[in-house]
Amino acid sequence: MTSRLQSSAGASAWALALLCLLGCESPWDSATCADEGTDLTYESFGRGFIGAYCQSCHASNAGDRRGAPTGISFDTHEDVVEWMDRIYDRSAGENVSMPPGPDDPPEAERQKLAEWLACGAP
Ligand code: HEC
Repeated sequence: MTSRLQSSAGASAWALALLCLLGCESPWDSATCADEGTDLTYESFGRGFIGAYCQSCHASNAGDRRGAPTGISFDTHEDVVEWMDRIYDRSAGENVSMPPGPDDPPEAERQKLAEWLACGAP
């Protein structure tokens, strides 16, 4: 009896550890920049992407932030660099939780965002 209890406790510990492996690791942890780096820059890509898809809510001069936290604005290149790990987790590559709703950027744009951020958002 005791041993059965112990082994089921062991099994749930394993299940938790497994869940954490899947769910606790940030996708940002595995973001890698290719050896050749990226041609994308804030001027050529980042400013336009953030402007088109994020600043309607995440800008200090946004008319209606629609619930976007007041402290989280992406007005400048510096702001984007400061928030880059969270931006990656919410919007880059396979991550589609931002922007909320149906106005999603096309997948190719999200892939570019992933590349640009993984290379340090130059
Ligand atoms: C329609 C308005 C809207 C747009 C557009 C929008 N957001 Fe948000 N954002 C929100 C709201 C509301 C929250 C707070 C709720 C939440 O975190 O889901 C938020 C929270 C966040 C946060 C803070 C929470 C966290 O996970 O750290 C980040 C980062 C973020 N958004 C990134 C982005 C990025 C990047 C874009 C553009 C690709 C974007 N958002 C576009 C409304 C918006």
